[in-house]
Amino acid sequence: MTDRPAAAAPAPPAAPAAVPWWKRAVAYQIYPRSFQDSNGDGVGDLRGILARLDYLAWLGVDVIWLSPVYPSPQADGGYDVSDYRDIDPLFGTLDDFRDLLAAVHERGMRLLMDIVVNHTSDEHPWFVESRSGTDNPRRDWYHWRAAPTPGRPPNNWGSRFSGSAWQLDAATGEYYLHLFAVQQPDLNWENPRVRAAVYEMMRWWLDLGVDGFRLDVINFISKVPGLPDGEPIEGTPYGDGRPLYTNGPRMHEFFQEMHREVVADRDAVLLIVGETPKISAEQALLVTDPAAGELDMVFQFEHITVDHGRDRWDPQPLRLSRLKRSLAHWQDTLAETGWNSLYWENHDQPRVVSRWGDDGAYRVASAKAFGTVLHSHRGTPYVYQGQEIGMTNAELAGLDDFTDIQSRNHYADAVDRLGADPDKTLRSMRPLARDNGRTPMQWSAEPRAGFSDAPPWMAVNPNHRDVNVEDQRGDRDSVLAHYRELIRLRHSRDLIALGSCRLTHLDHEQLYVLERAYRGERALVVANLSGTPAELPDAPWRHPGLTLALSNYPDSAPTPGALRSLRPWEALVFVSAEPGG
Ligand code: NOJ
Repeated sequence: MTDRPAAAAPAPPAAPAAVPWWKRAVAYQIYPRSFQDSNGDGVGDLRGILARLDYLAWLGVDVIWLSPVYPSPQADGGYDVSDYRDIDPLFGTLDDFRDLLAAVHERGMRLLMDIVVNHTSDEHPWFVESRSGTDNPRRDWYHWRAAPTPGRPPNNWGSRFSGSAWQLDAATGEYYLHLFAVQQPDLNWENPRVRAAVYEMMRWWLDLGVDGFRLDVINFISKVPGLPDGEPIEGTPYGDGRPLYTNGPRMHEFFQEMHREVVADRDAVLLIVGETPKISAEQALLVTDPAAGELDMVFQFEHITVDHGRDRWDPQPLRLSRLKRSLAHWQDTLAETGWNSLYWENHDQPRVVSRWGDDGAYRVASAKAFGTVLHSHRGTPYVYQGQEIGMTNAELAGLDDFTDIQSRNHYADAVDRLGADPDKTLRSMRPLARDNGRTPMQWSAEPRAGFSDAPPWMAVNPNHRDVNVEDQRGDRDSVLAHYRELIRLRHSRDLIALGSCRLTHLDHEQLYVLERAYRGERALVVANLSGTPAELPDAPWRHPGLTLALSNYPDSAPTPGALRSLRPWEALVFVSAEPGG
């Protein structure tokens, strides 16, 4: 099924000895519309990113994950692609992209494209053709079904963006499946022509020189045949389709096929990371085992949903023990064979300092503490733009401040359809809405934060006067300086990049404790992830030979043995001497 016969054969097994580059790497995610505007239209663009590359190189970033920049009606911030082989004029041109890629490579960095192929935009020519008639050759490229009972969708799945996952289409009187917005019809991966078209498109980007992919909701591509009903969800008209459309029966087969068809003999140089909601650590181990030839790492969601109640609109206080148990399980399960992605933030998440830290009096200390803990795990850390300066949640006062389709649809469903109280609904949306992570990047204290000369597409957080890159670059005690140190530490010590990782004190609701070990070297990371002092349960801590490498207080204990208690948000990294050092 390939236009390049050579790629049809399974790739030869990779040389076992080499450590892939991405195991020592730190990634940085750019959400282009909010990163840097260069042409004064209030929306970030590729030339804007190019102008900021020196900053990323200075920070120590190895690889950039670029959120979608393809032509798109922008119903879902570009995750609704209408042409996979071009750049949306909003962001620039293909030539701008080539220049950006060359400039990334000149600085020794790499770039990942965001590939969105569980679904397309409803304006993609494939879908336009598909919906045009039941006998159109592309009809089977999407999931079309006649209504089994007039007026009732083909199954009871709910969309992840509210409402039914099925949309009745007037052209033919049939329904199509959309797990996300109505404007995002799901591609039918059972059809080999769909898969071949996707692989060909991915090879096209590789031929342009990109260094890998972030694959959007890639464990949704295999659905249980027949698309049966899900278990009813109490209090809603929908059933739970998630077990039926995530990690489906052909998932491993499709991943392996993609690897053979796209990655092939370029395995050693590419990075392929899959976004995989609802994947378990045990499944992720199978996917990231290099011997399987599937993906290099996944973005899992278990740890990032520990504060969800029924869903993200039902925010619950964080129980640190729950967060630790989850991440400990992932570290233990993936251990030597698999590989973790590490993240607190991305364009779908609120800012960690507002979510689980303290964005008031302890903003700096708590932002550093969460940075320290994240970067101390085994895996590849992903820094989301603005996380490195401790950016906080957006000011989301009224409905107009929410621009994200997921937020808007939820509000319409709750208030307009179900009659929920508007103020209560907005209150429940504020803490975890995706809008929180999408405010423009805060480069300086200037009126538009140095992001744009024009009114930005989304309001700049007024706290940019105090929280911005320019001020922090000149401040050795800043959050930015701390992130730079964390990245430097990872780059300079295989202990941090490659060492084993064990979490201890799992039941403690304030302390986050990690032990790392690698070829006789050791590290101990102790953090108080709370705003009140924490006594150490079994002090003094006997970890002979370890000394303080990094702290977010100026006068922390020099050795673990000298530790008695930790101040609010205090986070310490102790390491053994480097061999021969
Ligand atoms: C995950 C992306 O990160 C999110 O922003 C998007 O809305 C959905 N996938 C659908 O593409």
